[in-house]
Amino acid sequence: MDFIEQVKEKVKKHGPLNIVLPEYQEERMYHAAEKLLKEGLVKKVLFTGDKEFIKKKAKDAKANIDGVQIIPLDKSEYFDDFVKTYSDIRKIKGITEEQAREAMKNELYFGAMLVKKGMADGMVAGAMNTTGDVVRSAIRVIGTRKGIDTVSSFFIMIVPDSPYGEKGLLFFADAGVVIDPSESQLADIAICTADSMESLIGSKPKVAFLSFSTKGSARHPRADKMINALKLARQKRKDIIMDGELQGDAALEERVGRKKAPDSKVAGQANVLIFPDLDAGNIAYKLVQYLGKAQAFGPILQGLARPVNDLSRGCVVDDIIGVVCITQLQAIGSKN
Ligand SMILES: CC(C)(COP(=O)(O)OP(=O)(O)OC[C@H]1O[C@@H](n2cnc3c(N)ncnc32)[C@H](O)[C@@H]1OP(=O)(O)O)[C@@H](O)C(=O)NCCC(=O)NCCS
Repeated sequence: MDFIEQVKEKVKKHGPLNIVLPEYQEERMYHAAEKLLKEGLVKKVLFTGDKEFIKKKAKDAKANIDGVQIIPLDKSEYFDDFVKTYSDIRKIKGITEEQAREAMKNELYFGAMLVKKGMADGMVAGAMNTTGDVVRSAIRVIGTRKGIDTVSSFFIMIVPDSPYGEKGLLFFADAGVVIDPSESQLADIAICTADSMESLIGSKPKVAFLSFSTKGSARHPRADKMINALKLARQKRKDIIMDGELQGDAALEERVGRKKAPDSKVAGQANVLIFPDLDAGNIAYKLVQYLGKAQAFGPILQGLARPVNDLSRGCVVDDIIGVVCITQLQAIGSKN
């Protein structure tokens, strides 16, 4: 069964949740909402926006959105409470009530607040908005999960006929959000990605901090950065199996791992790869996707207190449905 089908099955088995799709101006959201409801893949879809506009748009798009709950932003009963909560969260930044009102009139911020308040279990956006806008709204309204300061992302890579990772399944991070991570951000990225693998796939993560050096084979501040990041990650979480610095071959291939890092519990068996920066991560996932004919799912956001995910602006309806299901699986994982 293909990966997204497995995710859908897991969501159905658990019982689907409530998801907010705030981009009500976008026709693809209407078809996605209709299909999600029809296939029993969500309990409820919430749209944030003007009721009349939404009803007309649904009619024009020939989409049946009867089961969608429409919450009309500043005309809703929740608006004043949301403004107050946002003012309180952002007080430290010196935000005025007027600025908080303006922010809450933005459907991304309002949608994120529905998630923060527990009225939805997750949010999916990005068909119309940039990654930056989606990520910023989530960071500012929902914030990071306990013990984590960094929102980052991971890709699930599925390489056909491959013995590496979990029979070809690997998590790559960060390949989508944090451009030039510090040592402590790398530690957060590694911890979150390990937790993401465990909760989404159920496999025991083995995390490799990647570099051009293996266990001191080259000395350079850039290799030291990965060594220091690993130390910080280990201080925070002793339960996760992590090692570094490792080269890609030492991380993946048992024969090379045994030779270059014989005492390592990760070398030759890594299923989570942590890249030093966004250049490395993003280039690597695209090379594996094209040269290795791999499927790539992501970027999936992590590190938030509640799940929000970003879409590619070129996404099709089935992409939205897949990301909505992954978001629910994250919400289910964080509740367990
Ligand atoms: C995520 C991203 C949008 C953040 O943008 P940014 O310009 O650094 O954000 P800002 O400086 O406006 O910061 C917004 C807020 O989020 C915080 N923040 C930024 N990145 C953060 C992160 N990764 N984790 C947690 N908080 C973060 C900032 O501290 C700031 O907080 P404040 O409003 O309380 O001061 C940025 O990292 C980005 O553009 N990443 C690349 C995305 C991309 O192009 N990917 C392409 C490959 S798919």
